[in-house]
Amino acid sequence: MNMMNTIKHEFPLRPDLVYLNHAAVGVWPRRTADAVKNFAEENMIQGATDYPKWMNTERELRGRLKRLLNAASVDDIGLVKNTSEALSLIAYGLDWQSGDNIVSTNQEFPSNRMVWKSLQAKGVELRLAEVSGDDPEAAILALCNKRTRLLTVSSVQYGTGLRMNLDRLGAFCHTSGVLFCLDAIQSLGALQFDAQACHADFVVADGHKWMLGPEGLAVFYSRPEARDALSLLQYGWHMAERAGDFDATEWSPAAAARRFEPGSPNMLGIHALNASLSLLEEIGMAQVEADVLSNAEAVMAWVKSNPELELITPARPGRYAGIVTFRHLHLDDDGHANLYRRLMAGGMVCAHRAGGIRFSPHFYSDVSALDAAWGRALNDQRS
Ligand SMILES: Cc1ncc(COP(=O)(O)O)c(C=O)c1O
Repeated sequence: MNMMNTIKHEFPLRPDLVYLNHAAVGVWPRRTADAVKNFAEENMIQGATDYPKWMNTERELRGRLKRLLNAASVDDIGLVKNTSEALSLIAYGLDWQSGDNIVSTNQEFPSNRMVWKSLQAKGVELRLAEVSGDDPEAAILALCNKRTRLLTVSSVQYGTGLRMNLDRLGAFCHTSGVLFCLDAIQSLGALQFDAQACHADFVVADGHKWMLGPEGLAVFYSRPEARDALSLLQYGWHMAERAGDFDATEWSPAAAARRFEPGSPNMLGIHALNASLSLLEEIGMAQVEADVLSNAEAVMAWVKSNPELELITPARPGRYAGIVTFRHLHLDDDGHANLYRRLMAGGMVCAHRAGGIRFSPHFYSDVSALDAAWGRALNDQRS
């Protein structure tokens, strides 16, 4: 099948919808819906009779995630519930000393702020860089000092769509002995990624956005040395090195990131995400990235062509990914909330973020008729 036919087959979206919301919750490809249906059918007629086959699917998923992140080993891939859980495992797993600090930005999603802020109770300071200027990395690095233990940023900011230069931040952390933690939920599955090249210690991302999977199954990557720095916070049979040896009374935690997975895996989610990632692998992440960027560029060009709209997302090359956020010059925040409701009611699925409207098309999205969809959505509401 050529690319156009694959897209048509895999994304039979309702024709009345223009789906521009992968930065919130993405769309499942047909093969993911099929995997879930088949898994349900199998459970109904034979339960877990073929459990070893399910474990193969789990291994397959870990392998796909290893490739997506360019992890050194599949052992670096943990599967957890969501981004927030992974960030909490890091924040409360580290051994903080009063006076330590954490450096981040003032644009983070609450999950990458609240948990770090909560460490204030242990005497740990959270320093937030203002990153709306021309050199966001310089603003971040300026806040680091000898007491900085960890730097945590989103690879792409959820509101403004600002894309960070991860190599630059990672190189600093690597040479300074600072742990580098990435919330990659807004770029994994949209952009090529290399956890080793950017010297990430931890990478966390749920699968329900750009990875086109279901909510509730996230990747938690850790470098072995970084993993060893975390105390364990949850316990259960599945995290033991010899999981399945139920009679053993002595145990040790798995050397692999499985040590963060205390109990039964989310097999339904695993079947779904494995199918979603198989599509991204088939298309190839270089192609996916090229198409995500060209769709974002098309949306930015459309925003610029409308004199009533103004871009919030930085349009400089290297500074955007799949998110394009813009505001209407004559509307205040309530006005934008109203505009968002009208767009949704008119079939343009988007979000109200960063004081504007956020569009987030994926590689397969057709953004050629935005003007018509925009006009139709707004006019339909007026009539
Ligand atoms: C940057 C970022 N981090 C974290 C989350 C939430 O992640 P989760 O629900 O997987 O905890 C979101 C959701 O919008 C996000 O945009």
